[in-house]
Amino acid sequence: MSQLVSLCKRRGFIFQNAEIYGGMQGVYDFGPLGVELKNNLKQAWWKSMVYERDDIEGLDTAILTYRKVLQYSGHEDTFSDPLIDCKECKTRMRADHVTDGKCQNCGSKDLTEPREFNLMFSTNAGPVVSDDSLAYLRPETAQSIFTNFKNVIDSTSRKVPFGIAQMGKSYRNEITPRNFLFRVREFEQMELEFFCEPGTEKEWHTYWKNARLQWWIDQGLAPENIVARDIPEDDLAHYANACFDIEYKFPHGMDELEGVASRMDYDLGNHTKAQKDYDIKAHVHENNESNTKMAVMDANNKWFIPYVVEPSAGVERGFIAVLTEAYTEEDLGEGNTRIVLKLKKHLAPIKVAVIPLKKNKEEIVNTCKEIKQKLQKLGIGRILYENTGNIGKAYRRHDEVGTPICVTVDFDSIEGDTPTVTVRDRDSMEQIKVPLNDIVDYVKDYYIE
Ligand code: GAP
Repeated sequence: MSQLVSLCKRRGFIFQNAEIYGGMQGVYDFGPLGVELKNNLKQAWWKSMVYERDDIEGLDTAILTYRKVLQYSGHEDTFSDPLIDCKECKTRMRADHVTDGKCQNCGSKDLTEPREFNLMFSTNAGPVVSDDSLAYLRPETAQSIFTNFKNVIDSTSRKVPFGIAQMGKSYRNEITPRNFLFRVREFEQMELEFFCEPGTEKEWHTYWKNARLQWWIDQGLAPENIVARDIPEDDLAHYANACFDIEYKFPHGMDELEGVASRMDYDLGNHTKAQKDYDIKAHVHENNESNTKMAVMDANNKWFIPYVVEPSAGVERGFIAVLTEAYTEEDLGEGNTRIVLKLKKHLAPIKVAVIPLKKNKEEIVNTCKEIKQKLQKLGIGRILYENTGNIGKAYRRHDEVGTPICVTVDFDSIEGDTPTVTVRDRDSMEQIKVPLNDIVDYVKDYYIE
């Protein structure tokens, strides 16, 4: 973990938030390379969920959440951790971490009884601070997918089974943020709510478990480092009747990367209950009415509330997982070590670095700038023109940040009948000559399969 944290800071992936003031605990900022990697990971998820399928719609909803939504979703009552305070040193601890009746910090036995601590961040909408203006920062992106369920159906004519995908910020006032980005107070989720007919949810649950495992493997995670664990009944969240946790071998140990939960009609049912009578336990309407807010019609013209299967992944956890997997130290002999981030090319923060052999040779520099402009137009991501004057050091730096290819412009690029550039591969360190006129097609073929 310490090597990863150090690389993240040194190369501009992750910075501690408000570091100049000592840092805000459990809050991190993404640096110039971090923002690229994070966006690439999110884009890969969106592409696989929305663009490459024909049964999923996208949404981007507000972070500020109306209180009633989180009352009916059960979050106001149940989204909490029991906490214990040490009366001696004032340390606050999660009750399940106090196993021997002693303060984890000072060892005192003078502790309070466990008290529920709600994990949601609250605020007030409008100038008056009162119960009526209370609002929350969403603790999951899912709820506004549920509250928009009918809007999406009505505007797209979707029929179940179909899904709604959303990526975005979520907030939890975690008691013990820890393990770098693993447990933080502000993070992003990539969530899919997949709506299906009751009775088909088990099939879809297995389908999504397998699909999500494969997707993480496609992002570069080694199959032997990732598993789906069936969560025992007494560990399930308040809304789930079954859940697989997709766990990854993080530097701190095997831990949750994504949850794939079977939420039944818990949410749509509860939001319906807020509008109309719906018996959540019996999963039935008191009357078979079309104006019940979240109901849809089945093949026999009977109204029902769809069941939901929810794959929900954390962007920050995905970010550390792909970095952990990609981080490689290669022994080059004679005490030389090469650090390489063997990221999948679609995730790499910089797609191509264009480097002049001579930093002050005008023709070489201009050729570099032209190549950079042309490659940038391919729309494959960030192309960097870099003129620091030391090719060896530039290669090492780009190995460390995972740039799959570097293009070097030298005298052969500006002289002769068929000028060439040198393309250097990050993983093999092989260098090949490519005609200058072909470099755009070469990079296009490399990235666009
Ligand atoms: N809508 C379902 C839901 O929110 P969850 O298991 O609480 O379920 C889903 O969260 C995913 O969000 C987790 O698997 C994890 O990747 C990420 N996540 C949750 N809390 C987090 C935190 N405090 N810091 C970073 N990621 C977190």
